Amino acid sequence: MCGSGTVAIEAALIATNQRPGLFRLNYAFMHLTGYDEQVYLDEMETLNKQIIDIPGLRIIATDYSDVAIANARKNAIAAGVSDIIEFSVCDFEATEVPEGGKGVMFMNPEYGERLGNISELEATYTRIGDFMKKKCGGYWGYIFTGNLDLAKKIGLKAKRRIEFYTSIIDCRLMEYELYEGSRRQVREEEQQAS
Ligand SMILES: C[S@@+](CC[C@H](N)C(=O)[O-])C[C@H]1O[C@@H](n2cnc3c(N)ncnc32)[C@H](O)[C@@H]1O
Repeated sequence: MCGSGTVAIEAALIATNQRPGLFRLNYAFMHLTGYDEQVYLDEMETLNKQIIDIPGLRIIATDYSDVAIANARKNAIAAGVSDIIEFSVCDFEATEVPEGGKGVMFMNPEYGERLGNISELEATYTRIGDFMKKKCGGYWGYIFTGNLDLAKKIGLKAKRRIEFYTSIIDCRLMEYELYEGSRRQVREEEQQAS
């Protein structure tokens, strides 16, 4: 559900310690009286030296829309991180989840304000919960949504709910600690249901 790739691209920039906008060639401040190009070049050199390489880093970004993935690829190229992100077109359930590491699974599903039909979305949120429970053991799961009723359909107990606003929409970033094996998760769900 990477859409235009914002989250994957930001993740790649943060992981490699790249300041946003490093790839830009033109800034408004360059056109101000008193602009000193040498100061700018020295600062750029310092920031470029701070970029790090993380061996084995994998950022996997998928979406079932081929148009979204084409746009995400273009955006990653513009941001200079296209070599770090593995893009592919598929349903979220077919996304590769690398084994054996403490990874992060982040999804930003549609939530019915602008995109998506609510009854179909209810089924999608339930599938997201099943996917995280069955395929993402050992990972941290994050779902960003602007529909708190849909969030309940995920059916897992959130460790944290972080409040955000997208314009006037009250959104949540839900955090899930997904245990290896589903025993503890199932117990928490049972307690919640009782
Ligand atoms: C709210 S948008 C994500 C926006 C994204 N954060 C961005 O930066 O553009 C939701 C995305 O989920 C994708 N999507 C919806 N259902 C999906 C599914 N079952 N499998 C994969 N992708 C899906 C849509 O194509 C859309 O791009």
